[in-house]
Amino acid sequence: MNIAAVRSDFPILSREVSGKPLVYLDNGATTQKPRAVIDKISHFFEYENSNIHRGVHYLSMDATDQYDRARVRLAKMINAPEEREVLFVRGTTEAINLVTSSYGTRLQQGDEILLTLMEHHANIVPWQLLAEKRGLVIQVAGITEKGELDLDDFAAKLNSRTKVAAFTHVSNALGTINPVKEMTRLAKEQGAMVLVDGAQAVPHLCVDVQDIGCDFYAFSSHKMFGPDGVGVLWGKEKLLSSMPPYQGGGDMIEQVSFEKTTFRGIPERFEAGTPNISGAIGLGAAVDYLNGIGHAEIESYEKELLDYAGAAMGEIEGLTIHGTAEDKVGVISFTLAGIHPHDIGTILDTEGVAIRAGHHCAQPLMDHLKVSGTARASFAFYNTTQEADSLVAAICKVQKMFA
Ligand code: ALA
Repeated sequence: MNIAAVRSDFPILSREVSGKPLVYLDNGATTQKPRAVIDKISHFFEYENSNIHRGVHYLSMDATDQYDRARVRLAKMINAPEEREVLFVRGTTEAINLVTSSYGTRLQQGDEILLTLMEHHANIVPWQLLAEKRGLVIQVAGITEKGELDLDDFAAKLNSRTKVAAFTHVSNALGTINPVKEMTRLAKEQGAMVLVDGAQAVPHLCVDVQDIGCDFYAFSSHKMFGPDGVGVLWGKEKLLSSMPPYQGGGDMIEQVSFEKTTFRGIPERFEAGTPNISGAIGLGAAVDYLNGIGHAEIESYEKELLDYAGAAMGEIEGLTIHGTAEDKVGVISFTLAGIHPHDIGTILDTEGVAIRAGHHCAQPLMDHLKVSGTARASFAFYNTTQEADSLVAAICKVQKMFA
């Protein structure tokens, strides 16, 4: 990978913060956008903007075509059997809420939902809301010292009452890559529906939903170099077609009268109202961009980067890395003895280094780790070993200030 060329594709990476070159290591929160995505969106608004599925005029037909072609790109990216199984939603959070609101209506009192300790709040709270409404029981699979899933505990907590297993592909707070194919196989043995939260996986890994074998896979555009406010829920055709609508409105109906309304098939049934058209088209451009770089190249470069940064940070006295799974992406969560994560983040910012500090929307995990939060450096394929060096130097400066 030609890293200098890659970096020049991302205009923001050449700016300064606090008078220092920006070192952007908050990719777990959101990723930066390549020129190709920025240009696609501004070109759309300058020359192509129109509503979709409604017009008989050129612009509307062209916008519809572009929106539909974005869906095809996304379907290919995750190896979905059919493009209509790809629903455009606001992001991972809405994708999961769609499933709990719609699929959730078939769950009965006493049914169990199996989650894991490393879930983001987006894959906890919607299930809790559903559990309260329908009298469901939430079970939680534990993790090991290294921050890997405890697969034995996961298997032990599955039983004939488990109707849903919902888990993250990659932990946003630890970087752990979960054995989602094996987890899916185990859950399916008990007849459970399987939802995978792929928000932190799609920027780093090649995803194949057919290989995983899950029923639903959810992810956000903004974490994979596309615009925010748009994302994908992929679901198996049979399931989606048998689920009630999530929201009602225009474009999702066949026929409306005050007596009765009938609904369209998928994907329209789940895309009520004018969707985020420019967002979906921008996301399609992000997929093209990533294909141009190559997913295998991204994975192997990021692995080198993680090994380099992990080794350098491991040398810093008083620094604890939380999450040392064998299989992990470029996320390094850490604490410094006696220094609050927010202080770390604030001082790093004065060095131009952007990280996230706090509970990372994973409070149960933080409770388990017995920390109020961590500092998290999260890498993308446009980061460099020199930036890892800048991070290490800035951390040493934090320690000196608190010495
Ligand atoms: N879920 C995002 C993160 O992990 C916001 O930072």
